[in-house]
Amino acid sequence: MDDLYDVFEANYGLLPSGHIRSPLRICPLGAHVDHQHGLVTGMALDVNVDLVYVPDNEGFVRIQSLDFPDEEYFHLDRVPEMLPGSWGNYIRGAVLSLSREHKLKRGFKAIVRGKLPMGGLSSSAAVTTAYLLALCDVNGIERTKEELISLSHWVEKVFIGLNNGILDQSANVLSRDGFLMYMDCKTGEYELVEKSPSMPSFEVAIVNSGFTKALIGTDYNNRVDECKIAASVLEELVHGRISTYRDARLRNIEDADWERYGGELPGRFRRRAKHFFTENDRVRRGVEAWREGDIAAFGQLMMASGDSSVHDYECGCPELITIFETLKTVKGVHGARFSGAGYRGCCIALIDPACREELSRKVAAVYPVRHPEYADKYHVHFCKTADGASFVSCCGDGAARS
Ligand code: GLA
Repeated sequence: MDDLYDVFEANYGLLPSGHIRSPLRICPLGAHVDHQHGLVTGMALDVNVDLVYVPDNEGFVRIQSLDFPDEEYFHLDRVPEMLPGSWGNYIRGAVLSLSREHKLKRGFKAIVRGKLPMGGLSSSAAVTTAYLLALCDVNGIERTKEELISLSHWVEKVFIGLNNGILDQSANVLSRDGFLMYMDCKTGEYELVEKSPSMPSFEVAIVNSGFTKALIGTDYNNRVDECKIAASVLEELVHGRISTYRDARLRNIEDADWERYGGELPGRFRRRAKHFFTENDRVRRGVEAWREGDIAAFGQLMMASGDSSVHDYECGCPELITIFETLKTVKGVHGARFSGAGYRGCCIALIDPACREELSRKVAAVYPVRHPEYADKYHVHFCKTADGASFVSCCGDGAARS
């Protein structure tokens, strides 16, 4: 941690008074259904974004990232516009999101750091939560976890323009180590499902493809549109009327109506809807398997979810498909799938820790051969699950080190 505090002191001449640790997340089951108000699961990892800061009473926000070039520096009353691809968008959006409901008086001087290369683990939700918590802290604002999720989701959906759901923010904020976060994205109700004591211990393997790209530049929003069109067509078949585009969601269709009318949907719309209904079913069954400590059954559902993402939702990219197919062949991998949206970034796997070496060996034997352009960029990382975002005790109090 020292480097973070050292850089802070070197930059600002004092020690930070606040420190937030905000974890990356995985979604083992419930992929690409949150924007259709489906059922999702999530867990936080022991890999974090760290933000250290001191309040700025003049209302300036000044941040340096240890991972990206350039500094963000602006006044709360003059927030710069969204700049496609810039890491600074998340602080800009966080300020604007909170400013819709609060007159912010204090900004902060901060240093931020994330540990793993980005893509698929929702570093964007992690960093946005950290900014929101810090802005609330320095301005004496109290918000519930549910409010934090919605403030953070506004940043991604309205400010950045990604038509996503609340999975990332919810997993980042609500997760608790040893539990599976299970959420109904229609009602926002969630349950932390305790891991059965009979479940064997597992680790999370992350195989990063080395292929990075902002989600906004992928087919993500197109898929959301396809789901909404599928929902509208089904609505018309079932009820003879259509909601507005804004309100159309596959979750508004009963499972029985999908069974009855699904075959009438044209090609790709049928496949998107099929992914939605089968994924909700996998989530329900997965949660029961988790309760019972049946990691093998849970893992099989993850594999089926991965297959559905490839064949029915048709997301992913050749790099991630290679990794997914390779992970399936490793003995000791309970379950694997693309992480997050799956257009870039990584695959995750729940594994028996004893298979680490074999997993690394198999990935090394296949991936760089099929995708030589990423031979120096891909990497395998093993980690554990952890709690959601929180304040950590900080070594400084905003004073210079004596
Ligand atoms: C991204 C989005 C989430 C969710 C996942 C896929 O991470 O931000 O809202 O849709 O993809 O499950």
